[in-house]
Amino acid sequence: MTKPRTAIITGAASGIGRAAVAEAIAAGWKVAALDLGLPTAPEGASAENFVALSCDVSKAEACAKAVADAAARLGSIDTLLHFAAVHSTETWDALDADIFNRTLAVNVTGSFLMAQAAAHWMKDHGGGAIVLTGSGSISVSGLGGHGRGGPAYVSSKAAIIGLTRALARSLAPFAIRVNAISPGATDTAMTAEYSPEARANVGSRTLAGRMGEPEEIARAAMFLASDDASYITGEILNANGGGSFG
Ligand SMILES: NC(=O)c1ccc[n+]([C@@H]2O[C@H](COP(=O)([O-])OP(=O)(O)OC[C@H]3O[C@@H](n4cnc5c(N)ncnc54)[C@H](O)[C@@H]3O)[C@@H](O)[C@H]2O)c1
Repeated sequence: MTKPRTAIITGAASGIGRAAVAEAIAAGWKVAALDLGLPTAPEGASAENFVALSCDVSKAEACAKAVADAAARLGSIDTLLHFAAVHSTETWDALDADIFNRTLAVNVTGSFLMAQAAAHWMKDHGGGAIVLTGSGSISVSGLGGHGRGGPAYVSSKAAIIGLTRALARSLAPFAIRVNAISPGATDTAMTAEYSPEARANVGSRTLAGRMGEPEEIARAAMFLASDDASYITGEILNANGGGSFG
């Protein structure tokens, strides 16, 4: 049985992040749940194992403060599960620089800033594990429209591969592992606008024949953070029901 972690979980007000908070609390972890607004506490949460934090991950000072607050309230931080992101469903001809830049600011810079802030704490406290979030959309499509991620979103998620590998090398000397989970289409608010056609397409191009459930992605991310993954760093783990067979 792997040791329970003390984790910051971002994107915790919705979808995969919210599911991860519930799974983590059920597994005996301590959790700082972070989102733009304060995430709600799951069943089993108490003042000893749960704190809710409000933070915009695209702001460096906010990330640093969130890590300091989380460590102060929970006593330690050895894990970051970073799910916070925005979607961009605009097609190539509907995109403009503002939408593109905001998508990159939250999804790429925000991933870096949260990881940087967590790493500063972990490197002085015995190391840890960071899990970022990519997306299967980088290999399957990228058109946008029908509620699906378009060029801005897909570009932001492709960047997570490079960021994960660069941080894995950068942080290895401090006993910090860095990996990413790459979900296939998962039933959350982010995919709520999928057209029936887009939903049917997911079923036909995945071996599982269906969209993922947020808990399935959350548990795969928790594995990457756990001691069971102690010899895994710099990797991108697909959790996509066999979607890579396209
Ligand atoms: N749902 C899918 O099909 C799918 C597929 C591949 C990858 N992903 C990725 O999984 C992760 C979780 O997605 P989800 O489906 O749970 O989405 P979601 O929209 O349900 O949740 C995303 C959360 O991120 C938060 N957030 C957005 N901007 C923020 C900011 N600046 N600071 C702090 N929090 C912010 C939102 O408030 C929201 O609660 C994302 O990184 C997403 O790109 C999702």
